[in-house]
Amino acid sequence: MCGIVGYIGGQEAWPIIYEGLRLLEYRGYDSAGIAVVDPHGNIQLRKTVGKVNGLDEDGAGPKPQGTVGLGHTRWATHGRPTHENAHPHTDCQKRIAVVHNGIVENYRELKRRLTDDGHVFESETDTEVLTHLVEEGMDQGLTFQEAFRRMGRMVKGSQAISAILQGDAAQICALRLGHAGGIVVAQSEGQTIIGSDLPALLPLLHTESNIGQVGFLETNEMAVVTRNGVDYQDLDGNPIVKQTRMVSQADVQVDKAGYQHFMLKEIMEQPQAVASAMRERIDFEARRVDLPDFPFTKQEIADLDRVILIGCGTSLHAAQVGRHLVERYGGLPAEAESASEFRYRNPYISPRTLVVSIGQSGETADTVAAMQMAKDKGGKLLTICNAEGSQATRIADGTLYMRAGIEIGVASTKTFLASLTILNLLAIFLGQSRGILDQEKSQELVDGLAQAPRLIGDLLADQANYRRIAQLYADFDYFLFLGRGVNAPIASEGALKLKEISYIHAEGYPAGEMKHGPIALIDNAMATVALAPKDFLYDKVVNNVKEVKARDGRVLAVLTEGDTELAAEVDHVLYIPEAPEHLIPLLATVPLQLLAYNIALLRERDVDQPRNLAKSVTVE
Ligand code: F6R
Repeated sequence: MCGIVGYIGGQEAWPIIYEGLRLLEYRGYDSAGIAVVDPHGNIQLRKTVGKVNGLDEDGAGPKPQGTVGLGHTRWATHGRPTHENAHPHTDCQKRIAVVHNGIVENYRELKRRLTDDGHVFESETDTEVLTHLVEEGMDQGLTFQEAFRRMGRMVKGSQAISAILQGDAAQICALRLGHAGGIVVAQSEGQTIIGSDLPALLPLLHTESNIGQVGFLETNEMAVVTRNGVDYQDLDGNPIVKQTRMVSQADVQVDKAGYQHFMLKEIMEQPQAVASAMRERIDFEARRVDLPDFPFTKQEIADLDRVILIGCGTSLHAAQVGRHLVERYGGLPAEAESASEFRYRNPYISPRTLVVSIGQSGETADTVAAMQMAKDKGGKLLTICNAEGSQATRIADGTLYMRAGIEIGVASTKTFLASLTILNLLAIFLGQSRGILDQEKSQELVDGLAQAPRLIGDLLADQANYRRIAQLYADFDYFLFLGRGVNAPIASEGALKLKEISYIHAEGYPAGEMKHGPIALIDNAMATVALAPKDFLYDKVVNNVKEVKARDGRVLAVLTEGDTELAAEVDHVLYIPEAPEHLIPLLATVPLQLLAYNIALLRERDVDQPRNLAKSVTVE
């Protein structure tokens, strides 16, 4: 969740680390801090509560000078977002500065022991034990590297840790433990940057070539960065030969392209995201799905007896849609479950089980842990992921990349539609390969998919209408989103979008469940958003809408164009175009995203960085 940046090179470290923290801010923005080793070898520290730009504004005088430093942007877990709890943390003698992403699970017992031994703690964080552990090792005569490794062997939990040492010998140690919290190391023209992810690192290498040599730390691997380069080693100090690769800045460039928010830009990019998710995966001549990046053989596909789809948050909603698609078109029993629950069950998984994880970041701790568990149990593991080289892609047997381009807005939008597109492709591919779908049906499905980018583009055209509807609903404090079948998870997604960026209480519910409880909530203060597109469950949803109207509820319905009959019974309508059933979840999502976006704007919320959230949830 938190963001880490470290720099060693010939340039001033502060502006580079500051820029990196700004790029990593989507991971957390409760507090920020930078530590720089000054020309006298002393560690200079500056911290702020809140967003990174506070580091510029706190009137603390000139920026610390020096060419070695570490920075951190925090998403608070242990300890409130205060100045004392902001990273970097230092040891008693202020010789070491440490930044951290993840949780030290055994910090209480370590802290108790270190306190008994005379170490003085200044914060409530779990992180601070790391600094005192390194200090303890050095007090016992170990070198900085040895003490850092010893600390790594003593702490429990998944995390990324980095530290700098005062003095002339420029040195950064960075360590990754468990599956949460990646560390990337990028080198170019005599400078090295370490950080939490690649898109935030490369723009920092202000080099002529604009190209960096990049390595990703695996679990229990450590990087020691000096002015002479990078050494990779394990926790016992044995050297590791790291496969690195060249990556150019053009691969990871991001800006708002004139939009007010990244979220709006990313919503507007959805036709492109859906098209690129289909690129080279559909043979438009033969009107067949062809997945060259699917990792299993024909025989293995034929032997599958079950599909389990997992993810968290928006990606869980994609998994839930995927379950319907796999059952309907793939002809296989399918289930969808939140990765955070799944990882703590003891599910039956065999080599005939296909486990599909979905994740924008590929770094969500629960999803990665659930994948590892499925792999250990011998399942076949596929991931649908947007982030190249992320953990999910490294654990899985194969990856279907979303190719949506980097997503910066904390609320996922285009990666959700890219996931739904790929889940459609996967379901059709399984159906084709297993002889469940006849040629005519699979051609019809493929033809439908080909229309998706155009239909989504049409939906995005009339922005004024979404603004108008949002004005009518922005003052409601309670929302119920209803949908049935494949649209039930879309109702949940609509509610999630609204609650996370506008802070309005919103619930997504399967429409048929309403009469078993939530109907008690209906009155004229409750807004109901009903998904009632023309599909085989349409009549059922119409009944649910009538039940709400009969109780004075205000209803905004998402209907298929031309449905004047139901339109006459509800208060307001957002239309989606007539489309084949497998496209409806994609199309119905778009108005809900824009409703949430415009209501959040009217409520003057921080749309791209809503409170308490982070883009990449790398803690449990
Ligand atoms: C909601 C949102 C989150 C993420 C969730 C999983 O808009 O973005 O709910 O979907 O944190 O993240 P990934 O997809 O990276 O595993």
